[in-house]
Amino acid sequence: MTDERAGVRVHIETYGCQMNAYDTSAIHGLLAARGYGRAESPLEADVVLLNTCSVRDLAEHKILSRIGELRSLRRRGLAAADIIGVCGCMAERLGDGLVAGGRGPDLVAGVDQYDQLPDLLDAILRGESAPAPVAVGHRDDVHYVAPPEAYPTNNSHLVTIHKGCDYRCTYCIVPETRGPQREKAPLLIEAEIHGIVARGGREVTLLGQNVTAYRSGDLDFAGLLRRLETIDGLERIRFLTGHPCDMTDDLIRTIAELGKTCPWLHVPAQSGSDAVLRRMKRLYTRERYLAMIAAARRWIPDVTFSGDIIVGFPGETDADFRRTLELVEEVRYDLLFSFKYSERPGTPAAKLPDDVPPEVKKERLAELMAVQDAIWDDLAAAQTGAVWEVAVEAAARRPAGSWRARTPNNRKVLLHGGDHRPGDLVRVRVTGCEASTFEAEPIN
Ligand code: SAH
Ligand code: SF4
Ligand code: F3S
Repeated sequence: MTDERAGVRVHIETYGCQMNAYDTSAIHGLLAARGYGRAESPLEADVVLLNTCSVRDLAEHKILSRIGELRSLRRRGLAAADIIGVCGCMAERLGDGLVAGGRGPDLVAGVDQYDQLPDLLDAILRGESAPAPVAVGHRDDVHYVAPPEAYPTNNSHLVTIHKGCDYRCTYCIVPETRGPQREKAPLLIEAEIHGIVARGGREVTLLGQNVTAYRSGDLDFAGLLRRLETIDGLERIRFLTGHPCDMTDDLIRTIAELGKTCPWLHVPAQSGSDAVLRRMKRLYTRERYLAMIAAARRWIPDVTFSGDIIVGFPGETDADFRRTLELVEEVRYDLLFSFKYSERPGTPAAKLPDDVPPEVKKERLAELMAVQDAIWDDLAAAQTGAVWEVAVEAAARRPAGSWRARTPNNRKVLLHGGDHRPGDLVRVRVTGCEASTFEAEPIN
């Protein structure tokens, strides 16, 4: 270890999606290998990295004001934060623009540049670097791997299986920030999962913008699932996100047949109106989406769905929005993430007038969320008395003697009573539901 990094501690704040959460762990791994320490809070850190998201305007604004806040803490001597860096999608989208004017971060590293980070930090600490180095641009040759012990979210270990996206949904900035789709080799994915299992992990969540579009040589996503199912000691496989176009009958039947792949599909619809779907370039119709949902229901026992919806896309009429509400009523998602359309510079949709007034977007979002809440209340109430097998995740903070657990179809359960260990499979009877968490008691 050289002197300049002795005792230097790095804190990373993560925004955006799970792929950033995975990358944050990978960055910690890369920096630890170079001798950098880790700080749990920005106030104790010498280096603060923000792993950022560009998906909506609001997400970017939050981060820009966070940079200002960190700079002000530093100025007032309240936090060391000698180096403030920006990683992730905003680094990629804004690059040099972030540091222009000298009021931005001290370092910018895009999503394919994390192997450069230790060198960049070393150079800054030696005082040899330009005021604010900027490393961005997409590369083929790197797939970061996060150390297995670093990311135990809900006992499900994240494993990114590819980078980027080859779809071109007209509203979306991700193909620009994450680049074209590039696969992690199956051998590397398997090695990563073996490492997780060797350290006691039993569940993985495969991650990618569209994992269902995975293809490495002749191996497609269904083939990859079949291979991963053979890993001894691995008990559950989840994945997100699935693109409705790739959810073929073959893939659905494969998921149904495989014992370890969980019956939960995150399949964003975005809209229930064909006219809007066409302008979004989602490449499916409402009918095709609903047929996919019906096929999954037919073949995969106990399957549940979650999804994303955008309200107020350019030209969305009230009738279009009603079609979305009807679709949501028909699918009956367990969980729905709904967003107001946010114009992203340089995307094809940015050429369309952003003509749905903000107050209408707000009303539609509120109405959609109310419809979804009612669906969930109804769905949840119907589960009382059901018998499920759940995987225990951890002791719950309260009440004493209760446990956090999860069903294969991704329902959260608070288990009252019994002596368990994380990973145990327990048969339970559902006694009720509070918000998004079911209450249950163990049965023999
Ligand atoms: N690859 C995934 C998710 C990508 S981003 C997929 O295709 O489903 C996550 C979600 O953010 C999207 O599903 C979409 O609902 C939302 N989103 C993306 N761009 C947006 C924009 N410009 N305005 C509002 N929401 C957006
Ligand atoms: Fe964005 Fe569409 Fe790609 Fe998802 S599939 S990341 S919404 S372009
Ligand atoms: Fe955001 Fe980038 Fe993920 S834009 S949603 S962090 S891929």
